[in-house]
Amino acid sequence: MLNDTAERIVSGMRVTGRLHLGHFHGVIKNWLELQNSYECFFFAADWHGLTTHYENPKSIPEQAISMVADWLAAGINPNQAKIFIQSWVPEHAELHLLLSMIAPLPWLERVPSYKDQKTKLADKDLDTYGFLGYPVLQAADILLYKAHLVPVGEDQISHIELTREIARRFNHLYGQEVDFQTKALKAVEKLGKKNAALYQAFRKAFQEEGNKEALAMAEALLDQQKNLFLADRERLLGFISGTSKIILPEPQALLTKHAKLPGLDGQKMSKSYHNTILLGDAKEVIEQKIKTMPTDPARVRRTDPGTPEKCPVFALHQVYSDEATQDWVKKGCATAGIGCLECKGPLIKAIEAEQEPIRERALEYQKNPQVIYDILHDGAEAARESARKTMSEVKEVMGLDYLK
Ligand code: TRP
Ligand code: SF4
Repeated sequence: MLNDTAERIVSGMRVTGRLHLGHFHGVIKNWLELQNSYECFFFAADWHGLTTHYENPKSIPEQAISMVADWLAAGINPNQAKIFIQSWVPEHAELHLLLSMIAPLPWLERVPSYKDQKTKLADKDLDTYGFLGYPVLQAADILLYKAHLVPVGEDQISHIELTREIARRFNHLYGQEVDFQTKALKAVEKLGKKNAALYQAFRKAFQEEGNKEALAMAEALLDQQKNLFLADRERLLGFISGTSKIILPEPQALLTKHAKLPGLDGQKMSKSYHNTILLGDAKEVIEQKIKTMPTDPARVRRTDPGTPEKCPVFALHQVYSDEATQDWVKKGCATAGIGCLECKGPLIKAIEAEQEPIRERALEYQKNPQVIYDILHDGAEAARESARKTMSEVKEVMGLDYLK
């Protein structure tokens, strides 16, 4: 079991529809490892899905649930990770709103994925406030749980960088308590005449001359004060160094070595290329999809030798097969020693072996879909506990807490 100090991981997946083997190899397998060693928050980002699918929102709930069902079937464990749906934790929206107040427009317009996606999805009208704010919502997702690490692919690095900048700006703007100056001066007085004078001298030396030794000496002086309250000690340190309190810690990106899984046609596996094997595809479907896969176009007849490097089947062998099998393919193909159907045999077996336990678990959930709702309900409750804590801190430092 994890201890309380385990580092915290937050990761979301945009709701887009059924998962395929590309998601499984690129994201889920990584989550499966992380859930063993970190406190993990995994959520279905349905509001992020809405930024591009606002014209047809009706299908989002069903897609979110089926996505979570796929995670569970793949082995994401609700006893280890908190699994939930973004919109079931409304604090995501609340923090997004507050962060949107301080997020400078040019920062958002500069995010590379903003222009990229707009060009790519040219058939959609993405000149919306919500779409520009996509990464601000993502920053809220992450900062709401004070995540240490965010596992993401290369394409998301700029969003994590923006999250860090927003956190820094927030801390800078609100990280100093109301009446800080007055309270700090009171704390100085509490040091007693002699020490107060020493402290002020150190403060002057550091602030006016940048004398780092003076800063260290001030720290030592504070260490000696046994009767100093912790809050006063922090004030006095902050009063010298000028640093603000950290309310929203800056997260780090944990770059996943996205093994980009080749699809049935050799391009990256992706829904939009219609070249996927879905998680939970039936045995016959997998077999059919592999059997009809294109091969090296130069290998027209069984007797023609082929070049595995030019064949999408071999690309999949490189993910699924051991060295010995790959050698068998290389040799057999180049010498026309094996036929393409024969070559596909071990691949079908390997994918099948990987998918069988997933399909079986999926079957259990299909028989009892209520279990998925229960898991999501518990996940959202657990997530909300952390989320509420952060929100009350956020509102307190902004001076927006009405109920004192
Ligand atoms: N934007 C992410 C993607 O497209 C999904 C996402 C939303 C996310 N919120 C997040 C990822 C928070 C990590 C952390 O993949
Ligand atoms: Fe591709 Fe295998 Fe046929 Fe060679 S033998 S062309 S690697 S399917």
